[in-house]
Amino acid sequence: MTETLLYEGKAKKVFETGDEGVLLHRYKDDATAFDGKKRGSWVGKGKTNATMSAAVFAYLEERGVPTHFVEQVDETTIKTKRLDMLPVEVIVRNVAAGSLAKRIGYEEGTPLKAPIVELCLKDDALGDPLLNWYHFRELGVPDEDLKLCEELGLKVNGILAPYFDEMGVTLVDFKIEVGRDGSGNLMLADEVSPDTCRFWDKETGEKLDKDRFRRDMGGVEEAYEEMLRRVSGGRSE
Ligand code: TMP
Ligand code: ASP
Repeated sequence: MTETLLYEGKAKKVFETGDEGVLLHRYKDDATAFDGKKRGSWVGKGKTNATMSAAVFAYLEERGVPTHFVEQVDETTIKTKRLDMLPVEVIVRNVAAGSLAKRIGYEEGTPLKAPIVELCLKDDALGDPLLNWYHFRELGVPDEDLKLCEELGLKVNGILAPYFDEMGVTLVDFKIEVGRDGSGNLMLADEVSPDTCRFWDKETGEKLDKDRFRRDMGGVEEAYEEMLRRVSGGRSE
């Protein structure tokens, strides 16, 4: 298969193939935080992110959620449909953490009465700001697309919170992205990984995600390995 580099991001490379309408997403071992100001790298990160995304997308597809996922090609690479991405990051939260805990003055770890959905503008230079529907309308993102983003986010949460709970993991919050295929259908894209979700061990509260890197907590490689093990069928005991 021919591969032409289309885009290199902070944590992945995206390639065009000879097959039109199909892309390869190859996950790197590199990480950044705080809009690229903090950098790091650890062994096995790309493998975890590719393999977890593949497993989660397949699980969601089986439950009626359309995604860009086609197949996992190798340890660090997944094949996807080529989409036209909405400039929106959809965040869904079950427990107050990170920026929400600061914004509404909750102690981190406070369960929310109901899931909260946030829509952020995907724009690194602006720091991916949280916007409301008026702002998005101004920027040309139609209400129907925002409505679908919110519905999709809640549907994914309704499926994935119990999925991770079974593995002994609380799905605290996560970020997803949405794109449109050549026929105009909106679907789930991007990745579902410890980079884009907060995972807390249900029993111990231990963080099993990128916050270990963002907050210099140590044990980040082990945390990613542990999440890969649990998603691959290993139990927490
Ligand atoms: P936040 O609490 O920092 O706003 O993060 C909410 C969720 O979004 C968390 O699960 C981590 C994820 N996230 C990303 O995927 N990319 C980002 O750039 C940031 C800041 C957060
Ligand atoms: N998107 C952020 C960055 O690269 C990373 C994060 O906090 O997840 O800087």
